Amino acid sequence: MSRPLGLVPTMGALHDGHLALVRTARRENQSVVATIFVNPTQFGPQEDLSTYPGDRERDLGLLRQEGVDLVFAPGADEMYPPGFDTWVDVGALGDRLEGAHRPGHFRGVATVVSKLFSLVRPDRAYFGQKDGQQLAVIRQLTRDLNLGLEIVAVPTVRDFDGLALSSRNAYLTPSQLQAAPVVYRALSKAEKLWECGVTDAKTLRAAVRAELEREPLVESIEYVSVADAESLDELDQVQGRAMMSTAVMIGSTRLIDNVILG
Ligand code: PAJ
Repeated sequence: MSRPLGLVPTMGALHDGHLALVRTARRENQSVVATIFVNPTQFGPQEDLSTYPGDRERDLGLLRQEGVDLVFAPGADEMYPPGFDTWVDVGALGDRLEGAHRPGHFRGVATVVSKLFSLVRPDRAYFGQKDGQQLAVIRQLTRDLNLGLEIVAVPTVRDFDGLALSSRNAYLTPSQLQAAPVVYRALSKAEKLWECGVTDAKTLRAAVRAELEREPLVESIEYVSVADAESLDELDQVQGRAMMSTAVMIGSTRLIDNVILG
């Protein structure tokens, strides 16, 4: 396959967020490989591995339309044959925020992404800003293990009402779907405060929380974070580039979103 070669890893159930990654990769590379693999090692025992959405024929049709050269869609036993026992552990970056609520999640992500990089050997790999901590984890592992490829971040694709596109939105009932835009609305309200000069992280977190709490269908708020965009260390004051992120439960569906300040 001619180079440069771009890689777009996915778990299928493709939407316009995934396709934005594919289109960016298509523009910037001679060849594009996409992968579809619902990676069991990044799901916790109580999570949605067995019900994760997806329609293989539809996904393949979309990728064909976008001009993807090759789709790699292995089975779980191909990626994790009997005796598999080597893991990529990203350390502190993987233990906070999402990692604190989903123990082992980033170990699974880092391991499968490392394997995909080794199998495909791309020049560039494309990830969504939507999963901001995942992006930071992958940048760190690429740097730490000298993998020598470029990690490209693609902005979050949103619905008309601001809701970040996600395969998990398929779990929402119509009334939950109406409530879900509160997540981005809350982040946007705090972002406006920051634009008006508020740099105190506590004030920004409180603003996000206050807006989320106005929506009765938000069952719980798992975290509201204002952290350094690279280390994800929680901040007192926003000075450099920061990531403001949140995770909430709407019914039994977990939604995450973030905005970058600076
Ligand atoms: P998945 O959730 O299928 O997402 C695949 C890629 O699409 C990720 O890089 C994700 O950040 C990006 N993406 C999802 N929704 C997006 C949106 N609304 N806008 C922009 N990009 C979006 O993330 C995973 O799969 C897995 O963890 C994976 C990296 C494939 C490893 O198993």
